[in-house]
Amino acid sequence: MNKKEISVSILDCNFDNLEQEISEINNTNCEYIHIDVMDGTFVPSSAFDSDTIKKINLLSKKKLDFHLMVNNPSSYIENCVKQGASIITIHLEENTNINKDIKFIKDLGCKVGLAINPNTSIKEASKFLKDIDILLLMSVFPGRGGQKFINKTYSKIKFANSLINQKKLNVKIEIDGGVDNRVSNKLFDIGANILVSGSYVVKNKNKYHAVSTLKNQ
Ligand code: DX5
Ligand code: ZN
Repeated sequence: MNKKEISVSILDCNFDNLEQEISEINNTNCEYIHIDVMDGTFVPSSAFDSDTIKKINLLSKKKLDFHLMVNNPSSYIENCVKQGASIITIHLEENTNINKDIKFIKDLGCKVGLAINPNTSIKEASKFLKDIDILLLMSVFPGRGGQKFINKTYSKIKFANSLINQKKLNVKIEIDGGVDNRVSNKLFDIGANILVSGSYVVKNKNKYHAVSTLKNQ
């Protein structure tokens, strides 16, 4: 069985009390803090400004997992690296520079992820699989936390998993959106490697327990 990894999305945490929130996340068994960068164009909402990201980097003891929901990811990549990124994930949609962005992220020493929206097929992403470290499947439409998990993600995970195994690639599958304790076991069982969880963890009084539950520990 693969290692189960959790990336906690802080999109819905209490930013008036960021220090406390990050400290509680630091004390969980999660592997990453997931930072959703949104430009108000690729998705309607906006998040986060550089000052907030700097603060998160200073407070975090976890690796940082950046999810760029923006129209022009190239212009964000260097700043993410400066702010301690371990993973930088770009979207397949609305991007004509994917190969260039993938190479840029790799050359700067980060793991590279490629994200696809619920309506984008695995087939469209398949030609990039050999060049990436992580395939991120959105299990909600991107833009905000607290939405309901879309069930057709299960079959996409199975298909992505079979493709990765068939091609003997070393690509992790990351799932983002609506992940809670009701879906986490099944997701890991069918081949997901990293689960992003936002509201389920950050709205929970006991974040340590929430993360452990996601890992079934
Ligand atoms: C959605 C974001 C997710 C979101 C996850 O656009 O990419 O990372 O914050 O939050 P939950 O777990 O609440 O769906
Ligand atoms: Zn995300």
